[in-house]
Amino acid sequence: MIKAQNLTKTFNNHRVVNDISFEIAEGRTMVFLGTSGCGKTTTLRMLNRLINPTSGSVYINGKNICNQVPEQLRRSIGYVLQHNSLFPHYSVLENIAVVPQLLKWDKRLIRNRAIELMEKLHLSKKLLNAYPRQLSGGEAQRVNIARALVAKPPILLMDEPFSALDTITRLAIRQEFTALDELKDKTIVMVTHDVQEAFEMADIVCLMDKGRIIQQGKPADLLFHPTNDFVRDFLSDSFLQLALTVTHLVAVWPYLTAAVSTHSVQINLSVNATIAKALTSVKDKNNWDAVISITNGTEQKTTSWAGLLQAYAHYKKESL
Ligand SMILES: Nc1ncnc2c1ncn2[C@@H]1O[C@H](COP(=O)(O)OP(=O)(O)OP(=O)(O)O)[C@@H](O)[C@H]1O
Ligand SMILES: [Mg+2]
Repeated sequence: MIKAQNLTKTFNNHRVVNDISFEIAEGRTMVFLGTSGCGKTTTLRMLNRLINPTSGSVYINGKNICNQVPEQLRRSIGYVLQHNSLFPHYSVLENIAVVPQLLKWDKRLIRNRAIELMEKLHLSKKLLNAYPRQLSGGEAQRVNIARALVAKPPILLMDEPFSALDTITRLAIRQEFTALDELKDKTIVMVTHDVQEAFEMADIVCLMDKGRIIQQGKPADLLFHPTNDFVRDFLSDSFLQLALTVTHLVAVWPYLTAAVSTHSVQINLSVNATIAKALTSVKDKNNWDAVISITNGTEQKTTSWAGLLQAYAHYKKESL
């Protein structure tokens, strides 16, 4: 759906994006990861012509975007900016209504759509007439997301959408966001510094450094088959957590031994969930003896927090 070929951007004789190429299939999520200043935002903005590349091309649905009117192009691409970008003198409703108004939607339709999105993003309807300065950071960020989604664009670009938030709010918004039905078929390009966030959300990760893509691939590829020391070092701090994030329960299924427990707290998961998800579910229930029940087709196994970690250790030992 999106294809970037040999993109380069030079500012003041400095190549901030240096000959990068990538492709994103329809409905997939690509996450750009890298240190501050490596060219992530610049790359993202070349996808909707907020920045024109010095050389190279971007194709969306096979069409070169440099032949398209920027305003028209941007209507099919939702964009969540790195910093809060709500218009301060517009109410929440007016902020969400910007694109629908350009598209000449009926007033009632705009209002209904805004309310629908606010409900999905767990924002109180009372905030419709509030102004940005009256919102908390988390609320403002939800409004930003609502604004990007309102006209149902097939592509969504998001520049560090959760980074200005504290850890708890950030986790909550991220989980709500990934669960949104509105995102099912969207092609998403996201930028983050946060390795864990990248690994949770990405189908494909692009790790950048100094304007270049150092490695792109599935999260597990970067983790277990890093192309060089830069990639290895970038991921090393949270290696175990990331490994649990990219390993699905199906991998440890053969090593699960039945938990004999009469504990009443039960967590039900499919074998397609990740180990990290299972462990987090136990943590969320704050009940370390909870029974984790895992369904694999017509089969079912039960285990516990400790049982899962044992099974993971067993799996790693066997796969070495
Ligand atoms: N309009 C501009 N004029 C001159 N230099 C720019 C311009 N925009 C960006 N740069 C420079 O290009 C480099 C890459 O910037 P960019 O915003 O793409 O980085 P980033 O990876 O998004 O960083 P961060 O994680 O801090 O947001 C930086 O050194 C920045 O100073
Ligand atoms: Mg940036």
